[in-house]
Amino acid sequence: MKGIILAGGAGTRLLPLTKVVSKQLLAIYDKPMIYYPLSILMEAGIKDILIITTEECEPQFKFLLGDGSIFGINISYTIQPAPEGLAQAFILGEKFLNGEPGVMVLGDNIFYGQNIPDLIQKAMWDADHGEATIFGYKVRDPERFGVAEFDKNNQVISIEEKPKNPKSNYAITGLYCYPKDVPEKAKALKPSARNELEITDLNNVYLQEKRLNFIPLNDHSTWFDTGTFESLYDASSFIRTMQQHQNIIIGCPEVAALKNKWIDVENFIKLCYDKGNNSYREYLLSMIGE
Ligand code: DAU
Repeated sequence: MKGIILAGGAGTRLLPLTKVVSKQLLAIYDKPMIYYPLSILMEAGIKDILIITTEECEPQFKFLLGDGSIFGINISYTIQPAPEGLAQAFILGEKFLNGEPGVMVLGDNIFYGQNIPDLIQKAMWDADHGEATIFGYKVRDPERFGVAEFDKNNQVISIEEKPKNPKSNYAITGLYCYPKDVPEKAKALKPSARNELEITDLNNVYLQEKRLNFIPLNDHSTWFDTGTFESLYDASSFIRTMQQHQNIIIGCPEVAALKNKWIDVENFIKLCYDKGNNSYREYLLSMIGE
């Protein structure tokens, strides 16, 4: 299975923070934001990853992640010339997908929960069998998101993008898994009033074809869309609290690579010593009892 991280966009909602740095490289406590979606894909066993970003930001991502070999994975890059919508990722990524299903995660979405990699693997199995999967999360401000509407049997019957009067509190998170026909479906979409190929329209296509699974996440997981100053701060503060109180590290591609045996201990130690002499390095070294 292949993974796409969508990390473009103008980042205007976070100006001046995003004036010289890509939004998806801003700090979430002790790591660049993109480490979190990257790690989630890696934890789900995905090794082939396409990062879609802007022409200006591509060098920054390449400087940080290169071709992925430091983590034992393959990272390639594609430019999105203008922010013409989330669903455009599957048109830009068609060659990369090469007729296979794909998982997409938004570069500004942070997921935390032990069972998320398993849920992605289940979604990947379903995608291999022609079904798409989206993940919902109960929020207090659903009007900021794509929102699911349910019938009395709790089945999703529609999804609306940023509705003024949301029909539920379930936001659709920025993690999507689609079968191999997704580029074809994305190409058939018409741009919305804000001139974007909307992911919500794509999801509604699969819904109408009765090929859309909805997985609610709240019970064992936490999700942040870090698109505002408040949520950026909340996410950093959450990661700090979890890491310090539970003595764990969240969103760490070095650890995901080691656990998957995609790099050996020698290369892991090398990665540790690439870091400064700080608590990040200390935690990494503690993973191998150093
Ligand atoms: O975070 C989940 C939400 O993401 C969903 O609930 C919504 O249905 C979905 O439309 C999207 O809403 P946002 O308002 O968060 O989308 P935004 O325009 O902020 O874009 C999300 C990320 O994708 C952001 O990091 C920028 C990037 N992006 C966005 C667009 C429109 C691109 O790389 N290219 C684009 O064309």
